[in-house]
Amino acid sequence: MIVMGIESSCDETGVGIVELRDDGTCVQLADEVASSVDQHARFGGVVPEVASRAHLEAIVPTMRRALAAAGVAKPDALAVTIGPGLAGALLVGVAAAKAYAAAWDVPFYALNHLGGHVAVDTLEHGPMPPCVALLVSGGHTHLLRVSELSAPIVELGSTVDDAAGEAFDKVARLLGLGFPGGPALDAAAQDGNPSAIAFPRGMTGPRDSRNDFSFSGLKTAVARYVEAQERAGAALSIPDIAASFQEAVADVLTMKAVRAAHDAGIDTLVLGGGATANSRIRSMAEQRCADAGLTLRIPKPRLCTDNGVMIAALGAHVVAGGAGPSQLTAATDPGLSV
Ligand code: KG4
Ligand code: ZN
Repeated sequence: MIVMGIESSCDETGVGIVELRDDGTCVQLADEVASSVDQHARFGGVVPEVASRAHLEAIVPTMRRALAAAGVAKPDALAVTIGPGLAGALLVGVAAAKAYAAAWDVPFYALNHLGGHVAVDTLEHGPMPPCVALLVSGGHTHLLRVSELSAPIVELGSTVDDAAGEAFDKVARLLGLGFPGGPALDAAAQDGNPSAIAFPRGMTGPRDSRNDFSFSGLKTAVARYVEAQERAGAALSIPDIAASFQEAVADVLTMKAVRAAHDAGIDTLVLGGGATANSRIRSMAEQRCADAGLTLRIPKPRLCTDNGVMIAALGAHVVAGGAGPSQLTAATDPGLSV
């Protein structure tokens, strides 16, 4: 069975195609992504209206490219991200998916973007045991518990303010490193001392929620530090600030993820989302999982960022799990949790 996945929740128009084999495994046939990230750079963040217009222009050509890459005329099922995401951006992908599902007369599956970030890992690393997933991107920061990919996901916690990637982008902007700032900040941090400045670890007090995150206090602490240094006429070490900030983010994310797996009695941790490209988040997750005896699964960077093949993979698992298709009247849900 051939499943097409369409993703348009943020600034990536993604269309992926997978083949679901009789033994329940799925194989990637196409992964086409058109990104509007360059159009948002001068605004310092994703502009919803710009993203929606870019999706409109990109959606049909991206679908055509994916079909050509997979060598198929049409899929046997069509899956699409119904939420969470930007309202106007979601509408474009969902409208296209409904129209093509009706025209091709194939079943339509309206799926949760967050589940896609977990399901995509099966394309690289095979069947997924029960796991805890840490999703970190510009739009989300979630700790999830997944028993089966075709079953409802349980949200253990999420950010109460900024997403982790958003914090990277805002701090990078403050340091004059451009947008998207995560990769530039990561690069600057390579030459810095992660212990140079003791930035706060948000929501790690004894009364704080175990599985929720907060990054806005950390972002403010970086701004205050920069202001104080400038007032004192002291030199600013961008590498030290970047490394110390990155250390604080990686510390809280990996500590809470490993602890959540331990609390749930689960021995697999999956990472997903664009910010898992961060070198320190990866190295700290590897170290802490090894120390705690957890298996760590991280998809390759191309599959960690938003793409269509993650929705195709989730669609294949939902089909294999026996769930029926969604109604063509299904509405987008920008605030969808899990
Ligand atoms: O998943 P993604 O491509 O898009 C969404 O936000 O949904 O993630 C992009 C985010 C941006 O905030 C970007 O700055 C961050 O991931 N990012 C990084 C790194 N590479 C990308 N953050 C920290 N370190 C990186 N190396
Ligand atoms: Zn995402």
